[in-house]
Amino acid sequence: LGAQLAAAFDAAVAADERVEPRDWMPDEYRASLVRQMAQHAHSEIIGMQPEANWITRAPSLRRKAILMAKVQDEAGHGLYLYSAAETLGTSRDELLDKLHSGKQKYSSIFNYPTLTWADVGAIGWLVDGAAITNQVPICRCSYGPYARAMVRICKEESFHQRQGYELLLALSRGTEAQHAMAQDAVDRWWWPSLMMFGPPDDESAHSAQSMAWRIKRHSNDELRQRFVDIAVPQAESLGLTLPDPDLKWNEERGHHDFGAIDWAEFWDVLKGNGPCNEQRIGQRRKAHEDGAWVRDAAAAYARKQTAQQVA
Ligand code: ACO
Repeated sequence: LGAQLAAAFDAAVAADERVEPRDWMPDEYRASLVRQMAQHAHSEIIGMQPEANWITRAPSLRRKAILMAKVQDEAGHGLYLYSAAETLGTSRDELLDKLHSGKQKYSSIFNYPTLTWADVGAIGWLVDGAAITNQVPICRCSYGPYARAMVRICKEESFHQRQGYELLLALSRGTEAQHAMAQDAVDRWWWPSLMMFGPPDDESAHSAQSMAWRIKRHSNDELRQRFVDIAVPQAESLGLTLPDPDLKWNEERGHHDFGAIDWAEFWDVLKGNGPCNEQRIGQRRKAHEDGAWVRDAAAAYARKQTAQQVA
């Protein structure tokens, strides 16, 4: 029976059918999905911090309203993804415990500081731009709940990317000091954004298996290249430069060549040594502890409702 189930699973994946929560699936497939979806969900909620840092200092009411909506969207993305992960038989509490104890990762990008207002624009343009490039193919992921969650997330991320672009454009066309601030933000966020796609293909532990299972549709390097090709003309229309002297169009490849990424920095950030790792996880733990009374109150309310229904 085991072999029959495995054959049916392989055939469904090969035929591009969706795997649903009640379907049989290999334990390793389930574990790898929980790993990736949890990391993804954690990134969404940790990612609220660097931008929330600027809500109180947004330069106008309009910018403040946009930024608040965007940060709330990120919380929503986290919730869709935790719910999707729960369909694999794990609980949100368990996932949050693993985040808080450092057993599960979140994206390297959120361990960098937001030093100026222009960083809000650079995050929208580059970080959310990289996220969309990575996430659009996940809308076709073999696991149904993850694929469906991704559709709405990508629509919202597109709005985030455009607001970042528009913010940077306003700064770039502003005073000399505003232009310089926009350029400085792009200089600092460019390389970490390229690292978001994960290690190079020959060092990516999970890519081959995840692509065979159609969780991932493209390799880390393929998506990174796609992002560079999209970003270059956008930087030109923004009137900003990208901090890479080796960046140039390669006619033969039909892609842009780009300089070497500092992978030592990437692995170091993953180990917990980035500029803000401690602050991010410390703030997350504190928010969780401070929110205990809300969870207790919601649970007490739910118990009361159930008791009333029974009575
Ligand atoms: N930040 C932190 N950890 C990373 C990153 C990164 N940018 N890239 C790779 N890693 C980790 C992997 O999780 C893996 O660690 P693990 O074995 O402990 O899980 C290890 O480095 C090796 O990497 P890969 O084998 O290449 O891992 P994988 O095949 O899962 O690919 C990727 C990594 C591309 C990030 C994939 O998991 C993915 O597409 N995830 C969904 C998107 C996502 O998580 N986005 C979050 C940021 S975007 C946002 O929130 C706005």
